[in-house]
Amino acid sequence: MTDPANDPVLDATRSALDGPGASPADDAAGHPSALLHVNDVRKVYGSGHTEVVAVSDATMAVDEGEFVALLGPSGSGKTTLISIIGGLLAPSSGRVTVGDVDVTAMNKKELTAFRAERVGFVFQSANLVPFLTARENLLFVSSLVKGISRTQANERADQLLSELGLSARAKNLPEQLSGGERQRVAIGRALMNDPDLVLVDEPTAALDTAMGRQVVELLRREIKARGKTGIMVTHDLRMVEYTDRVFEILDGHLTHVEQPSAIGH
Ligand SMILES: Nc1ncnc2c1ncn2[C@@H]1O[C@H](COP(=O)(O)OP(=O)(O)O)[C@@H](O)[C@H]1O
Ligand SMILES: [Mg+2]
Repeated sequence: MTDPANDPVLDATRSALDGPGASPADDAAGHPSALLHVNDVRKVYGSGHTEVVAVSDATMAVDEGEFVALLGPSGSGKTTLISIIGGLLAPSSGRVTVGDVDVTAMNKKELTAFRAERVGFVFQSANLVPFLTARENLLFVSSLVKGISRTQANERADQLLSELGLSARAKNLPEQLSGGERQRVAIGRALMNDPDLVLVDEPTAALDTAMGRQVVELLRREIKARGKTGIMVTHDLRMVEYTDRVFEILDGHLTHVEQPSAIGH
């Protein structure tokens, strides 16, 4: 592990976070018809003297078809916020809406359906099912979605594997794939249910820079080609150039919104 006090990527991220840029609340007001609205979301873990305020008063809006970054150092609340957006975690207060649906008002059953039908997740470690091949890892998702035939699922899986450069790897188990290939399978899996929102948490954390760039470039290409709305959590500012806008988060506060070109300069 890199010593966090001596990590050049983290240092660069910290200084990038000092920049100006618009306030997320002002920015959100300028995007009234955005697909995703996060309003005053707060998340507190624990209680009493063990209480941790992981996210406070987060307000942001992301348009349909946009690919944005959520950039901040380790412990800043990125995973917490993206988990709330994807309906994996309930906020302590505040509201998340996707289209005209209030995610924060859903019961358990509605949340399960929302995640299965409208959200694709890609996690830091690809989290593939170890005893299923690359292709089977994609097809597994479609078995959870209503209304997709076996033939449609096979076609979609093969199309995605081809776009992601994985056709020759389709029959390999995760352990027979490189780290970058596993993340590409995870991207394919996230797109199998034709989601509205693609939520990606530190996709390059386990990859070297070249592999990381390749994965994020593919991710951008897929999100744009399919008209999805993507949010990528990262603490690596080298990856923000592939996104349309950057939301910066520090100690649970969204501090400002920037163009990727403004980061690190
Ligand atoms: N389940 C939990 N219980 C208590 N504290 C948590 C939990 N998950 C995260 N935290 C704390 O909340 C803060 C934000 O965490 P997290 O959202 O994981 O940040 P990031 O993804 O930016 O590293 C950190 O201080 C972390 O220790
Ligand atoms: Mg995290």
